[in-house]
Amino acid sequence: MKIATILGTRPEIIKMAPIIAEINERGIDQIVLHTGQHYDKEMSDNFFKDLEIPAPDYNIHVGSGSHGKQTGLMMKGIEEILLDEKPDIVLVQGDTNAVLAGALVCGKLHIAVGHVEAGLRSFDMTMPEEINRRVADVCSTMYFIPTEESAVNLLAEGFSRKNLFITGNTVVDACFRHLEIAKKRGFEEQSLKDLDIDSMDNILTLTMHRAENVDVKERVVSIIGALKELSDMNIIFPIHPRTKHTLENFGLFDELNNLSHVHIVKPIGYLDFLLLTSKSTLILTDSGGLQEEAITLDVPALTLRYNTERPETVTAGGNILVGSNMDAIIENARKILDDEEFADKMKNALNPYGQGNAAQKTVDAIEKYYDEGILNISAPEEVMDSFERKMTQVNDDITVSEFEQKEDALIHMMFDGEKMRFPTDETKLKGMMITYDKRK
Ligand code: UD1
Ligand code: UDP
Repeated sequence: MKIATILGTRPEIIKMAPIIAEINERGIDQIVLHTGQHYDKEMSDNFFKDLEIPAPDYNIHVGSGSHGKQTGLMMKGIEEILLDEKPDIVLVQGDTNAVLAGALVCGKLHIAVGHVEAGLRSFDMTMPEEINRRVADVCSTMYFIPTEESAVNLLAEGFSRKNLFITGNTVVDACFRHLEIAKKRGFEEQSLKDLDIDSMDNILTLTMHRAENVDVKERVVSIIGALKELSDMNIIFPIHPRTKHTLENFGLFDELNNLSHVHIVKPIGYLDFLLLTSKSTLILTDSGGLQEEAITLDVPALTLRYNTERPETVTAGGNILVGSNMDAIIENARKILDDEEFADKMKNALNPYGQGNAAQKTVDAIEKYYDEGILNISAPEEVMDSFERKMTQVNDDITVSEFEQKEDALIHMMFDGEKMRFPTDETKLKGMMITYDKRK
């Protein structure tokens, strides 16, 4: 079996690293294809070193540009490589343009796609990421899903439960594996050493890069207004290159940089960043990955967004959405700082993203599908069976797989009272309302 991984940005490298390592450990043939969307060494090369994975086999070097140009160049480059390499499955991760380009190319080449971190939905179609993740899901064969909530999103859109694998998020694998290394090593980034982070308290780690925040001046001004007020905190801000450019264009960079309690540094390596996160009193961010890492490392998070495709972090109590609202940022940051009970509740929120074995579960599922021949995608040679979609309340003591065998059916949706749940093979159906597709 040959597995190809497509990645292109910082979070994809971090979240695919545990899977790349797992594939290597199992001796499976693999290639890694970098789109070149992120190219600064602080946004790309350094992560291959920190996460101890080999440099990519290919780099398409698409660089920066409009979405259309970037995606188009990626598709062209990816297609050429895949036609040559002929992998059995291509893995894409998350919601960047690489995911969109990779999944579309594979869909047309009839190559199986495994979407890692599938099923997330912000329900905000103005976000490029929402479009990317939805299109990728349409083109995918296997779905590696962090939580039951995301799996339910896919069921509601009509995807077959058989191809949905709730694995947890590989960010937990990466966090657990590398925080220990980071703790032993200590800070290595000169900018952090210079700040003597170890002797600081009240650390607020800030990251922001979302187009809907940093490209809108009023939002940036409002966030900076809050940062000014939080002058009793040590604000460490590893700045994303996009944000640096827009702050400079808005003429706001110097104003922020001149605040004595705000420390703007270049994007930092993964080990240093994990260590910084773990020492933080709170995280202020619009990053997807950081919302997950914060709850994994028991650090309260305030998210600079009005919606999130990670609602589990909010319902668990570890994350609060503050948008770019100055008052909401200040009020919640103050509470975390001054109200121990409030902060402890946030810190003790249960991590919804699994035990740190997502990579293992993902590769297990891929090997199983490969052995069963499910990765071979070809046009049907038999007349398709037709199905009737039905709904029923189950009163028998029966599991999902027993019901499906008995009825020659596939369960689609399952409701436990008012709550939609994900039906695994072993789930007991007694008392559940289900919809299912019955072969005619
Ligand atoms: C991209 C992803 C976003 C992800 C983020 C992770 C899409 C649509 N967006 O956003 O989902 O959360 O990566 O960080 O795929 N730049 C540099 N050096 C680099 C890379 C970028 O200077 O190495 C600058 C360029 O000016 C570029 C800008 O940052 O125009 C934005 O980069 P781009 O890759 O288009 O989007 P991100 O904001 O990084
Ligand atoms: N990160 C890092 N150094 C930094 C900032 C972030 O290593 O200076 C890591 C962080 O730990 C997380 C990931 O980058 O795993 C998040 O990437 P980003 O915020 O760029 O993208 P998103 O997750 O929003 O797609």
